[in-house]
Amino acid sequence: MSERTIYAGLVNEELVGQEITLKGWVQKRRDLGGVIFIDLRDREGFCQVVFNRQYIPEQMEEADHLRSEYVIEVTGTLEKRDPESVNPKIPTGEVELVATKLTTLAKSKTPPIYIEGDKKTDEELRLRYRYLDLRRPEMLNNLRLRHQVTSAIRNYLNKLDFIDVETPFLNKSTPEGARDFLVPTRREPNSFYALPQSPQIYKQLLMGAGYDRYYQIVRCFRDEDLRGDRQPEFTQVDLETSFLTQEEIQSLVEEMLKDVVYQVRGEKITEAFPTMTYAEAMSKYGSDKPDIRFGLEFKDISDFAKTTEFGVFRNAVDEGGQVKAINLKGKADEYTRKTADGLLDIVKPFGAKGLAWTKITEDGFNGPIAKFLSDDYDELVGLLDGEVGDIIFFMADNEKIVADALGALRTHLGEVHELYNTEELAFVWVTDFPLLEYDEDEKRYVAMHHPFTAVQDNDLTVLKEHPEEALAQAYDIVLNGYEIGGGSIRIHTREMQDEMFQLLGFTEQEAHNQFGFLLDALEYGFPPHGGLALGLDRLVMILAEEPNIREVIAFPKTGSGMDIMSEAPSAVAKEQLRELNLAVKQSRKNKK
Ligand code: AMO
Ligand code: AMP
Repeated sequence: MSERTIYAGLVNEELVGQEITLKGWVQKRRDLGGVIFIDLRDREGFCQVVFNRQYIPEQMEEADHLRSEYVIEVTGTLEKRDPESVNPKIPTGEVELVATKLTTLAKSKTPPIYIEGDKKTDEELRLRYRYLDLRRPEMLNNLRLRHQVTSAIRNYLNKLDFIDVETPFLNKSTPEGARDFLVPTRREPNSFYALPQSPQIYKQLLMGAGYDRYYQIVRCFRDEDLRGDRQPEFTQVDLETSFLTQEEIQSLVEEMLKDVVYQVRGEKITEAFPTMTYAEAMSKYGSDKPDIRFGLEFKDISDFAKTTEFGVFRNAVDEGGQVKAINLKGKADEYTRKTADGLLDIVKPFGAKGLAWTKITEDGFNGPIAKFLSDDYDELVGLLDGEVGDIIFFMADNEKIVADALGALRTHLGEVHELYNTEELAFVWVTDFPLLEYDEDEKRYVAMHHPFTAVQDNDLTVLKEHPEEALAQAYDIVLNGYEIGGGSIRIHTREMQDEMFQLLGFTEQEAHNQFGFLLDALEYGFPPHGGLALGLDRLVMILAEEPNIREVIAFPKTGSGMDIMSEAPSAVAKEQLRELNLAVKQSRKNKK
């Protein structure tokens, strides 16, 4: 074997006239009557190789047998292409390698998926043959982008004297919101480790230990229902600091994100990220992760609805609900009665019972509910900032359904009417979250962020007397409608943490059993502290302009949590189970 001179994708005119050796994969082979052309691919791109009997008389037959994805080594002279065969679309399009020696290093079966980037293959097949899919330039680019992002983050945090500390994967099971993945062990029959949902408690303990500024780019595990932006194992950029205020932590993270955007895109974001309270986000966008690349804010017309003749609106408010509207400006002409009614399909999955709409025309309201609203034309048009040419959509229901359904409609309309530029990055901080949510099923409060989050102003009175009104010192960072990170100032005294567990319905014994080590640690001089974790996969997904996080993960799971390449999860040998003191119930499928 000869030494490789350069990557095929990097050959350039400076090497013209020299003998060079390239190694890589056969991307394409064309036989033009006695002259064989090959596109030789490696991670940097590809280069055209020419096999001409004149220069490589003994190996024309071998060249003729080359097929897609064979691995070869070629030595030859780099030549400038004839002007008519120059390909300006590729970086190596001015040159070609005229082969004098060929070595076939490995043969390949015909790949079951397209390797060339611009051809589409079904995702299931791509995941089954991920090792081939990863050869595609799109995947390579995404994983390189991910590498650039993690490098930029590490550099940034290292410069600020953050210390990277690893924390255990085999942990005590402590409820943190999602379901745990459990790991049995043969040493302790009937006992289980849990994989970490996040390193939350450990990073707090590191603050207790005086490490002051910690970070870790770390895998987290959650057995929850999957969506495009969720995986059972995913990566956090996890950080924690002592003695900093909420504003200082937000500012540090904001500067880090700006640096990442600058490093990977060359874009300088000079303005501060906007901040919105949770209440404002919910009321204007129906979401605590609003996509603010476009407007379409909700208008609350509940007061108006109380007095209207239109039963659907009035009843919703009478029953304690609300009526909100979206004004899609200037798009009335783009909707027929059928297409406007058709949008019901978008909101139905969120519990909407209907979707009322009206156009504003020269002759007043127009549409199925126009007759109910006409008497109040001026008032309603005023409330909606309406103009001729607008189409308005209304949702009347309880607060949750209005938020979810109208929020989904807003996202849909923003997308189909292309109300934003897909390359734009719109960061926004969401703050002032409620500390607690009431869980109707369990009839108790649960922490909205996690049980270690501090109440605003450390206000014990509000916590005791009006827990539902308590706001958290918590903050999320949102990008283009995705929650890409969240954090909080933590509780750092034993009394407050006890109080919180009590409020969450833990008995003293339960709190001790699950979190005793943290509660004890809080009694040994624990500094005020707080931090945040970014969802790395989501951040990279958005920077890569991909529709789901699987596209930025080398070996992801499917939507149902399967690895269809290795076929995990899978059954294990009886012997393994016996060692672990486990028995598997026969599933119904296997029963005779
Ligand atoms: P949280 O649970 O909000 O906070 O998680 C932080 C960020 O992780 C990302 N994320 C996910 N990404 C992909 N797949 C998932 N299943 C998934 N779940 C979460 C999100 C989210 O914003 N310990 C706290 C952080 C802290 O308080 O410092 C925590 O884990 O982008
Ligand atoms: P109905 O009286 O049910 O025929 O509804 C009259 C109009 O109001 C139809 O256009 C429905 O789609 C719409 N509508 C019904 N329920 C709601 C609701 N909860 N919110 C908004 N519009 C609704």
